[in-house]
Amino acid sequence: MKHLLKMLDLSTEEIIDILNLADQLKYELKHGIPHPHLKGKTLGMIFQKASTRTRVSFETGMYQLGGYPLFLSSNDLQIGRGEPVQDTARVLSRYLSGIMIRTFEQKEVEDLAEYGSIPIINGLTDFCHPCQVLADLMTIREFKGSFDGLKMCFIGDGNNMANSLIVGCLKVGMSVSIACPDDYQPPKEILDFAKGYGDKFEMTNSPMQAAKGADVLITDVWASMGQEGEAEKRKKAFEGYQINDELMAQANEDAMVLHCLPAHREEEITEKVFEAHANEIFEEAENRLHAQKAVMVKLMA
Ligand code: CP
Ligand code: NVA
Repeated sequence: MKHLLKMLDLSTEEIIDILNLADQLKYELKHGIPHPHLKGKTLGMIFQKASTRTRVSFETGMYQLGGYPLFLSSNDLQIGRGEPVQDTARVLSRYLSGIMIRTFEQKEVEDLAEYGSIPIINGLTDFCHPCQVLADLMTIREFKGSFDGLKMCFIGDGNNMANSLIVGCLKVGMSVSIACPDDYQPPKEILDFAKGYGDKFEMTNSPMQAAKGADVLITDVWASMGQEGEAEKRKKAFEGYQINDELMAQANEDAMVLHCLPAHREEEITEKVFEAHANEIFEEAENRLHAQKAVMVKLMA
């Protein structure tokens, strides 16, 4: 494993290896056992979109690993003024040990990896959010003990989160059902991948149908970063695509609920369901730190 660009690139074994290391790093942190695996290393963090969790967890994680994180806002970099990503990649490779990037196009992340010579980590694109899904898988395994026989149900936009969840959950052996409006289905690349898993994958436009027998329910905002201009149109399109009590009644009694955050209460999830599952959702947010530290150790140590 040279980069973390998308879940499609990872084997099941690589995913499980990252999760195991993440569990170990979490244990060590909680027990005051230092783990300076990245002493003397630097991570550049390029942000073309806002972030709370990704920025703070990478920055803190790098510090805990003995390394040094640099926050690089695209507003201040020449990349924001049109310097090609190919050149940025070749220059930054001479200063840094790794780059985490949050941007719009997946191609930009793939180009950084192609032209640079250091590990690239995708901190979210319009196509996928692998760091989040590694943390989600870590949280599911932590609460449920294993992935065996579990069904993950995603309700909402067939966008970055849905894409990575479909791939990640299928790769670790879970069944996946997703409910999204017809015009907001995941891209062909993801659906083609999922079809290879036969009846372990189901897509419908009925949230109630998708939630039947689910062990984990997950949703995401109706309008992602960069789609703010379509917010009103999306509100209409996604009406009913909400995790609420009625939907929870279709799922297994001990079903857990996850949300990558930020959440829009009373849109994709009700306040009541959110608060009833806040322990799971905030453990998930914490696990971003541990999962990403594991990724950095695998790629940069
Ligand atoms: N879930 C997530 O990536 O959060 P941020 O946008 O705050 O980084
Ligand atoms: N789909 C959301 C995820 C945020 C972490 C977005 O792209 O804004």
